[in-house]
Amino acid sequence: MATQDSDHHAVANADGDETAAAGQAYFDKIIAADSRIEPPDWMPDGYRKTLIRQISQHAHSEVIGMQPEGNWIGRAPSLKRKAILMAKVQDEAGHGLYLYSAAETLGIPRDVLNDQLIAGKARYSSIFNYPARSWADMGAIGWLVDGAAICNQVPLCRASFGPYGRAMVRVCKEESFHQRQGFEILLELANGTPAQKQMAQDAVDGLYAPALMMFGPPDSDSAHSSQSMAWNIKRFSNDELRQRFVGMIVEQVKVLGLTLPDDDIRFNEETGKWEYGELDWDEFNEVLAGRGPCNAQRLTRRREAHENGAWVREAATAYAAEKAKREQVA
Ligand code: 3HC
Repeated sequence: MATQDSDHHAVANADGDETAAAGQAYFDKIIAADSRIEPPDWMPDGYRKTLIRQISQHAHSEVIGMQPEGNWIGRAPSLKRKAILMAKVQDEAGHGLYLYSAAETLGIPRDVLNDQLIAGKARYSSIFNYPARSWADMGAIGWLVDGAAICNQVPLCRASFGPYGRAMVRVCKEESFHQRQGFEILLELANGTPAQKQMAQDAVDGLYAPALMMFGPPDSDSAHSSQSMAWNIKRFSNDELRQRFVGMIVEQVKVLGLTLPDDDIRFNEETGKWEYGELDWDEFNEVLAGRGPCNAQRLTRRREAHENGAWVREAATAYAAEKAKREQVA
């Protein structure tokens, strides 16, 4: 907006307005063409803000998500299972790194995001505030949690922000391996002794509802969905994806010879949608408010891991400074 008391400001601000108007026109054209916005492009503040919010929450989820499974590496039932689980947990760390890098292209440094997580001011997925109580939970996490993540993230490969969409392509490939290894753990247990089959069933019973909640609150309570869909960040609403996921697992559970703990699942021929029983949204809100079964433990462990890694950061900083000094001399 031009000011009256300074010609200089008037020109500068008029230029700024023109630049913003041209930027907005370009942005609108790219979104309408279902094409991609790249980091140097002009983008509305709200678009940048919502991407930083979603991508950083996603990155934090990957990092915190290493804990429930990391706890089982030392207790895996065989060397083969241990090697697979270690590879999976390492993949999650990699996903966190791609995503923090994507967020950094929006102008927010990784250490700021990390500080927010450690201070308990950042969100991460509700699912990781539930305990992993048995080896069968490793199976149910892979099948249901990584399965829900894939269902949610395959459409994100087409997100309008280039670095996010591209990161998602690789993440989804790795998540597919994670889901299969989880399914295979459950299949083996379900075909084992009665006690093993019961352990697999208990794991599915415990993680089914929390996995469905990963898709976020019902559409009627989803603050960001409609704007994110208009910007081609999200392609489907929370409920649409949740329904799609229920349709997938209701068939897969038959192959396992197990059941889902929900008698209300059915396909509604009229709406063409899967229906399922009411989820406990009070529980979801409690977990989001920091009062889930493992919220405090997850943050404590993350803080400890950060503190234990201080020497690595100090060594890397000292090495970079020394290298820069040598390059200056040379
Ligand atoms: N856990 C924690 N917070 C959640 C949540 C969940 N399951 N679902 C929604 N929320 C939060 C939102 O972040 C938002 O909070 P904010 O306003 O403080 O940022 C609030 O609840 C309202 O929800 P909305 O539906 O309006 O939010 P979104 O439109 O952002 O939709 C989402 C939520 C579907 C999770 C979306 O952000 C998304 O698709 N994110 C990318 C995927 C992701 O983050 N996945 C994490 C899963 S774990 C994972 O991938 C690891 C793998 O190894 C399994």
